Amino acid sequence: MNVVTNFKWIEAANYDEMSKIAATIFIDHLKKNSETVLGLATGGTPEGFYKELVAAYKAGEVSFAQAKSFNLDEYVGIDPANESSYHYYMDHHLFNHVDMKRDNINLPAGIQSNLEKAAAEYEAMIKAAGNIDIQLLGIGGNGHIGFNEPGTPFDVGTHIIELAQSTREANKVYFDSIEDVPTHAITMGIKTILSSKKIVLLIAGASKQEAFDRLRSRIVTEDFPASALHNHPDVTVIYTDVK
Ligand code: GLP
Repeated sequence: MNVVTNFKWIEAANYDEMSKIAATIFIDHLKKNSETVLGLATGGTPEGFYKELVAAYKAGEVSFAQAKSFNLDEYVGIDPANESSYHYYMDHHLFNHVDMKRDNINLPAGIQSNLEKAAAEYEAMIKAAGNIDIQLLGIGGNGHIGFNEPGTPFDVGTHIIELAQSTREANKVYFDSIEDVPTHAITMGIKTILSSKKIVLLIAGASKQEAFDRLRSRIVTEDFPASALHNHPDVTVIYTDVK
């Protein structure tokens, strides 16, 4: 299917090239505006991207000292010190290796006495920061972005969501067993994601082929959350090995 969309589509020769192209976009952004508000994602797909950012920082090409970041999501009930948490992932892949100020790093908290209140506060913090300048996204096999599962209304901000069984299955590699995979997560909403000024979506590997094809079809439906991105004016999709 070769439907023309408003997205900028970039086919990378391989995973490393995809990671480099994405990192270059972010680095250029930071060079132009050292106070960039970064929107960050987790998962297997962006690991190479973070390696590139760390290498660029170590080579003196970029600084994160003035930047701010907001992560997309976190599991409910998982302690930040737990190796399966997205807090741990971000420290391990990026924050421990670059000059980001701890006070400028934001992730939704998965352990809270009042999760709904924490979600509303996270949303307010993003707004107070002037919204995200550049948001990185991956995609779930079922089209989720952040943890916005199929059926999530497009007009909702940061919220608590029940994870789809297929998402729990896909993410069980990061846990000892499926029973250990949380049932719920706190995630930026589609509305939050669409309020970002620029979006970079990474898609890699044959397991994402169906999601890739559905995105190319340009049919916008809440059954396929990533299709909401067709309503955004500045989306770059960098993809590789999807066939
Ligand atoms: C996870 C995350 C998403 C991520 C997606 C794909 O569950 N919540 O932010 O983009 O699923 O992950 P992966 O890159 O590991 O395939």
